[in-house]
Amino acid sequence: MPNTPRPKVIVTRRLPQAVETRMAELFDVELNLTDTPFSQEQLADAARRCDVLVPTVTDHVDAAVFAAAAEAGRLKLCANFGVGVDHIDLHAARVAKVTVTNTPGVLTDDTADMVMALILSVPRRLGEGEKLVRQGNWAGWSPTGMLGHRITGKRLGIIGMGRIGSAVARRARAFGLTVHYHNRTRLPPSIEAEMEATWWADLDAMLARVDIISINCPHTPDTHHLIDARRFALMQKSAYIINAARGEIVDENALCEALAKGQIAGAGLDVFEHEPAVDPRLLDLPGVVLLPHMGSATFEGRQAMGEKVIANIRVWVDGHRPPDIVLE
Ligand code: DGY
Repeated sequence: MPNTPRPKVIVTRRLPQAVETRMAELFDVELNLTDTPFSQEQLADAARRCDVLVPTVTDHVDAAVFAAAAEAGRLKLCANFGVGVDHIDLHAARVAKVTVTNTPGVLTDDTADMVMALILSVPRRLGEGEKLVRQGNWAGWSPTGMLGHRITGKRLGIIGMGRIGSAVARRARAFGLTVHYHNRTRLPPSIEAEMEATWWADLDAMLARVDIISINCPHTPDTHHLIDARRFALMQKSAYIINAARGEIVDENALCEALAKGQIAGAGLDVFEHEPAVDPRLLDLPGVVLLPHMGSATFEGRQAMGEKVIANIRVWVDGHRPPDIVLE
């Protein structure tokens, strides 16, 4: 509903205070003060009552939600707080004639930093070392204590060389890793040369060759369970897998089995297949570092994501094409 002076905006979770304040100045905003994720009924109710819905990754904005919106005929923009949109049924959004936007770019560095932190943590056993000290079990330095594996000189295989994958590659180069990548489209030669990156058209061949695998692609029907039991079997026994993208890209059951069988050496996970549930088998495995989906969790990043949401809504209210269109 462009040119509406104060559109009704419903935000499903608490956002940074400054973002909420600015939204209240600009829009007729309804906040979820409890910060508890909406049920499907609450989401459908919100979709009936607003012009703009601001969901997050914890919402399942499914076909029923868009059907409710279409029936009421009010919702026109779904301005996601986050870059990944796999929790939004884009086909149903198109049918309901709802535009979808996201927040790309502003969380690239933070997420790449988190990937790098996991790349450093898993082979060097930071999780185990930290636990040892905290639990009072550290008996002091020893020549053979807490040995891990050197990062320098290892081969990193990046799946998905978009914004975040490229930012990971640049960081990895500084740590002496060699960069390999699998992407549908090959990078321009000048960028490949800058990163000294090797492109693998064949994902299976890359997986068999690299020491550390970093998943940085979006979750789509094509990438669902991209890493499954067959692909774990291709990896080296000394390989580590890092996932700060989406849990559903990895078959978590196959991952647990691969770790338990020693098919791979370890995993660094910031995301899980059934968040916030974590497969209990992962909790007891030593070569695993687990984080609670915090790749973009910086004050600066979340503020910038909120500003992007606001910018997308404002441009749309003014009757123009929002800058971060996913679907229109
Ligand atoms: C993102 O932006 O996709 C983060 O994972 C949070 O949703």
